[in-house]
Amino acid sequence: MLIEFTNTVSESQGKMKRIKELAIIILAAGKGKRMQSRLVKVLHRIAGLPMLCYPINAALALGAEKVIVVTGHQGERVKCIFGDEEIEYAFQKWQLGTGDAVRATEERLRDFVGNVLILCGDVPLIKVETLQRLVQFHDSSRSKVTVLTTRMSDATGYGRVVRDRSGGVVKIVEERDAGKKEKKITEINTGIYCMDAGFLFKALSEIGKENAQDEYYLTDVAAVAVRDGIKVSGLLVKDAEEVMGINDLIDLARADRIMRQRINSELMKKGVTLIDPETVYIDRDVKIGRDTVIYPACFIEGTTTVGEGCVIESGAMIVDSEIGNHVKVKSYSVIAESKVKDGASVGPFAHLRPGTVLEEAVKVGNFVEVKKSTIGKGSKASHLSYIGDTTMGEDVNVGAGTITCNYDGNKKHPTHIEDRVFIGSDTQFIAPVRVGRDSIIGAGSTITRNVPPGSLAVSRARQKNYKRVFAKKPMKKD
Ligand code: UD1
Ligand code: CA
Repeated sequence: MLIEFTNTVSESQGKMKRIKELAIIILAAGKGKRMQSRLVKVLHRIAGLPMLCYPINAALALGAEKVIVVTGHQGERVKCIFGDEEIEYAFQKWQLGTGDAVRATEERLRDFVGNVLILCGDVPLIKVETLQRLVQFHDSSRSKVTVLTTRMSDATGYGRVVRDRSGGVVKIVEERDAGKKEKKITEINTGIYCMDAGFLFKALSEIGKENAQDEYYLTDVAAVAVRDGIKVSGLLVKDAEEVMGINDLIDLARADRIMRQRINSELMKKGVTLIDPETVYIDRDVKIGRDTVIYPACFIEGTTTVGEGCVIESGAMIVDSEIGNHVKVKSYSVIAESKVKDGASVGPFAHLRPGTVLEEAVKVGNFVEVKKSTIGKGSKASHLSYIGDTTMGEDVNVGAGTITCNYDGNKKHPTHIEDRVFIGSDTQFIAPVRVGRDSIIGAGSTITRNVPPGSLAVSRARQKNYKRVFAKKPMKKD
């Protein structure tokens, strides 16, 4: 499964002019120790998608000849999520450093001549436009190595870019290997590079691991180039946020916020009203139509689509669902894996569980739970009901407190309610059971047998009124 990336990349952006062939390597083998998590770093989510999804999609948008993801920790899991239709994998058995990780792709790039763009699985906010600029800059500067850099007021944890007086890049020094003076450098290595393939693999065969982390640093190829008199260029990006690396859960939360701001801005530009964008959480793959109004504190997740002219009130949580046009989702409703068609109204405090379909103009009101059921056009269940495994026709009225008793402790059973049935309040349907069209169920009934069309079904004891007997008043003591 490759998650679609629709909101930011237009087709024309992908078709860039390139002088040379392009291969893209994405480094994703590291465990991410600093995340303190059992889940491998690149599968932690940003705006609903595993962070590795973002560099992969950027790579695909660039239209490279090859996209190779280097996996290691939980590699099978990574493969399973992203599939192998559009990308290839190289396996790095031991995580011996970023230089070693790139070397793991050598076999797959044996006959490749051209540029290699190297991305990091943990630098997810990178934009396609920036990568295009990097490749074009690399071509036009006739370099064999171009490093994408930025300035950070707090450069802690990043490799520093050391330049000579004329501005040429001399080397990259990791934080843990940096001296006092080098630590003061604010220009950092983003971990993204464009390099000539032939030079890259030759240089990698020459680097050692005499450093504080005892790792093969990819960054050392810069020094190898300089040693051999080959020019190393640096392209500086202004927006440091775009190239931030995710190393711990604090970084993850920051990146998530930035991505959500991007998503919300894109939606507002397309005519969606967010009353308080700071508090609305919309996943990357969600689509929302114009003139829809979203109140504060909403979560719209997964592959959800919302049509035009809807109102989503505060506290709504909508996951992997299809919401039509002019739908009202009132406060504190939860909707999962369901379809809500045009003009329907849900909530407040309603719960639509997986497999629910509300046809046009259906009303599901407060404290109503619906599961794996279809409710026909114009039908209403306004208060306090449970409707499960039910097929309901059109214009049915469900009285307050109606319950489909679908579970016998062992199996689930279906309930069928045909068109224009009127269900009195506090009715229980003991499934499996069918109620024919145009029938009425008397309030308080327990329906255990099928009801033929056009019937009045009542199943309750006849009311008896007895004369009330009053107790004698106790005598006053004194
Ligand atoms: C790296 C750079 C640093 C840069 C920073 C930017 C090196 C030596 N340092 O440091 O200059 O400022 O990124 O974010 O390259 N990985 C592997 N296999 C390995 C080791 C790492 O695939 O053996 C992958 C990781 O999964 C990750 C990426 O490479 O996606 C970067 O690794 P990480 O350990 O986070 O490097 P940094 O210390 O951040
Ligand atoms: Ca990193």
